[in-house]
Amino acid sequence: MLILIAVFAVRARAGEHPVPLEKNTDAAKCLECHEDKTKAPHVHTAISMGCTTCHEVKVVDKDTTNVDLISPSEELCFTCHEKSKAASLHGPYDKGGCVICHDPHVSDFDKQLRAEGNKLCLECHQERRTTGAVALFKTAHEFAQDEFQAIPKINLDPTLRLGHPMGTHRVADDPNPLKPGEKISCLTCHENHSSERDKLVRMTEYKGKKVDVCDACHLTRDEAAMALAQKTTDEQVAQREKEQKTLGKQSIEMPQRTPGPANKKP
Ligand code: HEC
Ligand code: HEC
Ligand code: HEC
Ligand code: HEC
Ligand code: HEC
Ligand code: HEC
Ligand code: HEC
Repeated sequence: MLILIAVFAVRARAGEHPVPLEKNTDAAKCLECHEDKTKAPHVHTAISMGCTTCHEVKVVDKDTTNVDLISPSEELCFTCHEKSKAASLHGPYDKGGCVICHDPHVSDFDKQLRAEGNKLCLECHQERRTTGAVALFKTAHEFAQDEFQAIPKINLDPTLRLGHPMGTHRVADDPNPLKPGEKISCLTCHENHSSERDKLVRMTEYKGKKVDVCDACHLTRDEAAMALAQKTTDEQVAQREKEQKTLGKQSIEMPQRTPGPANKKP
């Protein structure tokens, strides 16, 4: 534990570059030693603008070079990405903590995220035992113990698939009717950065109308279930008609159309 803290302290110290650099070191030179910052499944577009777009090289003397960010970390990303003006902002986004969730350079995951799917959100929102500071995503970004505990936690079952926002509601694995082929996740119901609604709950469209995501999904599901029931009924009717025909014309009774399912309100 002590060793870890020491490492963080060193990593967190801004400024002195471990290797002295020439005054006009260009971005190509950086890559001689830092090629890894440009190669991964997902590379930040800004990397193609060169390292010195975000890092400033200051030669102090022959033996000392400082490499600092061109603006404080919590402001840097906003120099190119406009801050959302929505009513409700997610805490770490509001504070400019972009690099907690996104790697500024490269990542194995889409949008340079530090983890995939629900894992990203549960890093902060899942209850866990902590002793001392918590290093999020195993990076140098630490939350003090009380700061970490103050983040609202949700209560999922041990498989992390259900139990939120109520009862046995699914948060994973079930198909997402709103995005065929995808599964339900935290981001099905929540926005990641900001929203007009409380608790980052998403608004979405259902038949051209703005509704909240709960209604959109439940109405779509009911509709699909109803369509399926109707299809089954139609097939049964067609089958019966066929049987009647083969029985010959002696049958006077017309096949009765079985009633469709009751028009369930969601
Ligand atoms: C001669 C090799 C070399 C060159 C050239 C070089 N670096 Fe580094 N740099 C290193 C090494 C080694 C480290 C320490 C290990 C690490 O963090 O990757 C480092 C660390 C860093 C760090 C982290 C510093 C810290 O305080 O922890 C930054 C930021 C950085 N380099 C930026 C740059 C930029 C920007 C350039 C080009 C202007 C550059 N480097 C050129 C070798 C080099
Ligand atoms: C879009 C802005 C941006 C660009 C472009 C950029 N960096 Fe960074 N870099 C950052 C930020 C922000 C941090 C601090 C990350 C953190 O706190 O987690 C950082 C940290 C680093 C570090 C130390 C921590 C680490 O992730 O290893 C190194 C080394 C580094 N950058 C090298 C480079 C090199 C080399 C390039 C060019 C290939 C480059 N950066 C381009 C924003 C940028
Ligand atoms: C110098 C300008 C610049 C800076 C500074 C910058 N970005 Fe970007 N970023 C871009 C551009 C250009 C794109 C590609 C166009 C777009 O998607 O908006 C991009 C795209 C992204 C994407 C979307 C990637 C994708 O796959 O769609 C993420 C995430 C991102 N940036 C995060 C950050 C974070 C975090 C920071 C601060 C560390 C940052 N950016 C700072 C210019 C910048
Ligand atoms: C709590 C984690 C978290 C924080 C903090 C965060 N993001 Fe994101 N961001 C995400 C997730 C998750 C996505 C992907 C959303 C999706 O796929 O629908 C994303 C997507 C993006 C994208 C691409 C899509 C878009 O909205 O244009 C950009 C650019 C971006 N983030 C920039 C930023 C910047 C800049 C900051 C800091 C001001 C930031 N993010 C802070 C989680 C975060
Ligand atoms: C770095 C830690 C961190 C990560 C990762 C994170 N959150 Fe949060 N989240 C917070 C903090 C801190 C708050 C409390 C501040 C606030 O209300 O926004 C919060 C609040 C929330 C709230 C309640 C907002 C409100 O208005 O009360 C929701 C919902 C939420 N997060 C969803 C998510 C989702 C979805 C993800 C994944 C995309 C995620 N969080 C990832 C730190 C995090
Ligand atoms: C089916 C929709 C749905 C899904 C999926 C979902 N949430 Fe929520 N979440 C909600 C709603 C609705 C609320 C607001 C509940 C309330 O106000 O009592 C909420 C509230 C929250 C809060 C705030 C809790 C508080 O005490 O303030 C957090 C944090 C949160 N969700 C995180 C997550 C994370 C992380 C995931 C993924 C593991 C997730 N949610 C998945 C609907 C959902
Ligand atoms: C992506 C689709 C989807 C979204 C979005 C969604 N649900 Fe559900 N919901 C389901 C599924 C699937 C079930 C399980 C239904 C079943 O077993 O037939 C369910 C079940 C329920 C149940 C039954 C009780 C239970 O715990 O299983 C309630 C109540 C409910 N949802 C409310 C909500 C609310 C409130 C929201 C918005 C915060 C919401 N749902 C958002 C898909 C969704």
